[in-house]
Amino acid sequence: MTTSKCMLSLLFLGLLSTDLDARDIQPDVDKLVNDIGELARQLMLQQLFIEERIRSDGNSGVKQIRGTHKGTRAYFGDTFNMGSMMSIHDHTNYDRTIGMGEFNAVMNGVEFRTRHNDYKLRMPSENSTDFNRLQDVPFPEVPPSVKAKHSVPDQIKEMREYFRAFKEQNASIRHDYRDYFKPVLCYLEGAWTTDTKTLSEPFHSDRHFLDASSWFDLLEKVRFTSYTGGKSNFENYSFLPTTITDVVDGRPVYAQWNYRIVCHPIRNQGVSLSSLSLIDDLGVRMARRFTYEKAYSQRTARFRINPRSYNQYNSTLLAAQRQDLEYTGVELLDSVMSEIPGKDNYYHTLQDNTFGVEEDTMMNFGKSEQNSAYYHRLTDSKIGNSQANHVSYKGFSDENLFVAETTQPRVAPMSVLSCAFNDTLKDVSCSNTTVRYSYALPLEIIWMTPLYKWNPYDIPFFTDNKVPPKNGRVGGTNATSAYNGTSQSYYYYTPIDFFKSNEVGRDPADTAKDVVGVLDKHGHVKLVKPSGTRIVLPEIEGIGKIRTRYPVAPSHHEGSPMYKEMDALKEMVLDIPKNLKFFESPPFGSKTKQAYNHDDNLRHFTTTFTHNTPPGLHQHDVYVDSRDWWALNHNQMVTVITTNDNEHTHTLQIQRDAHDHNRFNILSCDNAPRCWDGHSNGLLQVTE
Ligand SMILES: *[C@@H]1O[C@H](CO)[C@@H](O)[C@H](O)[C@H]1NC(C)=O
Ligand SMILES: *[C@@H]1O[C@H](CO)[C@@H](O)[C@H](O)[C@H]1NC(C)=O
Ligand SMILES: *[C@@H]1O[C@H](CO)[C@@H](O)[C@H](O)[C@H]1NC(C)=O
Ligand SMILES: *[C@@H]1O[C@H](CO)[C@@H](O)[C@H](O)[C@H]1NC(C)=O
Ligand SMILES: *[C@@H]1O[C@H](CO)[C@@H](O)[C@H](O)[C@H]1NC(C)=O
Ligand SMILES: *[C@@H]1O[C@H](CO)[C@@H](O)[C@H](O)[C@H]1NC(C)=O
Ligand SMILES: *[C@@H]1O[C@H](CO)[C@@H](O)[C@H](O)[C@H]1NC(C)=O
Ligand SMILES: *[C@@H]1O[C@H](CO)[C@@H](O)[C@H](O)[C@H]1NC(C)=O
Repeated sequence: MTTSKCMLSLLFLGLLSTDLDARDIQPDVDKLVNDIGELARQLMLQQLFIEERIRSDGNSGVKQIRGTHKGTRAYFGDTFNMGSMMSIHDHTNYDRTIGMGEFNAVMNGVEFRTRHNDYKLRMPSENSTDFNRLQDVPFPEVPPSVKAKHSVPDQIKEMREYFRAFKEQNASIRHDYRDYFKPVLCYLEGAWTTDTKTLSEPFHSDRHFLDASSWFDLLEKVRFTSYTGGKSNFENYSFLPTTITDVVDGRPVYAQWNYRIVCHPIRNQGVSLSSLSLIDDLGVRMARRFTYEKAYSQRTARFRINPRSYNQYNSTLLAAQRQDLEYTGVELLDSVMSEIPGKDNYYHTLQDNTFGVEEDTMMNFGKSEQNSAYYHRLTDSKIGNSQANHVSYKGFSDENLFVAETTQPRVAPMSVLSCAFNDTLKDVSCSNTTVRYSYALPLEIIWMTPLYKWNPYDIPFFTDNKVPPKNGRVGGTNATSAYNGTSQSYYYYTPIDFFKSNEVGRDPADTAKDVVGVLDKHGHVKLVKPSGTRIVLPEIEGIGKIRTRYPVAPSHHEGSPMYKEMDALKEMVLDIPKNLKFFESPPFGSKTKQAYNHDDNLRHFTTTFTHNTPPGLHQHDVYVDSRDWWALNHNQMVTVITTNDNEHTHTLQIQRDAHDHNRFNILSCDNAPRCWDGHSNGLLQVTE
């Protein structure tokens, strides 16, 4: 306050004639200082207004990539996935670089644009709480049965069996294949930071750096390229907004948005290839003339993680993966995200009790407290002594708002005066709560394979990237031009005979040469292929292509009412026989027949009424889909979540009665033998 007051006083003294007594203008100065504080506050509210507007436009998600395609129809143009989803590409000759270009994303109403990402397979530190400290994701080992083979052709044969087992997800082929094919979830993490002066590189890339000396400089450069429509040829600028987070004594406090891309080795055993189903983006299919089947192995493909970890038929067959299922509650993605820590890194515990509300985790039916230091979007909040489970998603209407609390001082804080009834004082008591949060968005699941570590030719590795190409070596096929060993950016180990054909689906952003010659320990030239991460592996003899990168980022637009209507229309039009009854008059005349649609078999149940107060007279609806209905008819137990009535839901485990086939029993309610509010232990079937 003093500096701004001082500056204003000087300004005033300069403007007014000097013979005026400074004391006479003090009230005016005070008023001006006050006005500036209010204006700063209004600016802050303006930012809030814009965020709120974006929040109601759609979900947290990716929005757009740099445009490089167009045509006579709108759908030829780029969205988040025309050239490739999030501009993903291969940098296979690097040991752990994952190719990903620029894109716009929205996280909790904050819209920003990334630089050319090219992030690395790195994870939050396991033994340090330092801000943004990372460590390498460990690569899977080579199966011992492969290493035990003495000749390279025999090793190739055995290794192929592991890839066959992985592709078919068939443990009868190699019972332990899961130990050598490990999924990681790479995610976008964003937060408002207090580093408003010096630019801090959020995450390292072998290929790209922010090309600016300060945040101010970066924004000036982005402003310039936006004004001229130009671009930094190296794609090293990002648009990261600055905001006012607080006004203290009339002075604005700034915060800088920053993001990074990091990975987490998934522990949940439920994640398999049948957990992923292709999302049908029609614009891309039309523009590229892809059939649904062909779209699966393209760079444009994006996937949804099935809520239940496997698909309807537990199959890796593409046709079986289509799934249309209303599903509210804990999904596989929630379990995986709950393994991922916020900015305090692994093994931290925090509790958010703002407004006197205890947050519990839905991972355990709301029976244990939510560790808010890990990412979550679903909470079960308990108010006061009430037992009611109030299951809710973070945000007002954002399906993908994963948040985590942190204690890092470099994350901008937010404070609130919260008042709650204090049982000890028998009165309302107020306290000032200050919290810091970051946000996360899943980007892709990458299946790491044993190829990173498999070195059957025993080629030496050098930590110095200058060694392999030294003396004009270019990876040629004779002893004078072959690379001298390998390094992090000359990462070539895989014998060419392991694959059948040349690389698939090349893109100008890809770096690796298909086949290079590398000298082994004895100075012999070996022909090898790069061993880093690929979107789709080249065809393996007798096995085919295997996809290893699965973009799972949700799109911002999916949260808009227009997209939701369009999605329903898409489904109706793409499978007319199955959805015939929804048309107002039958297309192609009345000869078309309604085909069997297993999604029609949604069974409707209710709980019994309860009169207990609180929560007051109510009952809940329960919907059982065809897959669960099948399970119930085969005497299996099924978990369902009821509708939200009187401010709460129940998680039920239900089973068909062994004797009375028309009875459906509630075996447990919120993990307790009976529902706390007195619904009886049976469901009523509704026939409509
Ligand atoms: C743990 O920390 C030590 C130094 O504090 C470091 O040398 C070591 O590599 C770290 N371990 C991991 C797995 O990051
Ligand atoms: C799994 O592999 C075994 C051995 O090759 C084969 O007999 C079996 O049919 C396969 N199972 C499936 C579901 O494909
Ligand atoms: C920008 O990115 C290019 C790669 O496209 C890299 O070679 C260059 O060093 C980067 N420049 C700066 C200033 O970071
Ligand atoms: C699907 O397969 C997984 C893993 O093999 C298994 O745990 C799960 O019970 C299966 N689900 C169904 C519905 O068969
Ligand atoms: C709460 O505490 C913070 C930091 O101590 C302070 O900046 C803020 O003004 C306080 N807010 C209220 C409402 O008391
Ligand atoms: C209630 O008030 C007592 C006495 O001031 C205090 O020690 C306690 O922390 C308060 N409890 C809550 C939940 O705020
Ligand atoms: C080795 O290969 C390079 C190009 O790959 C060629 O220019 C050179 O003449 C070859 N040297 C010998 C000795 O064959
Ligand atoms: C390869 O590099 C190593 C380490 O710099 C060096 O000792 C060796 O002589 C080199 N080999 C050839 C064939 O240049």
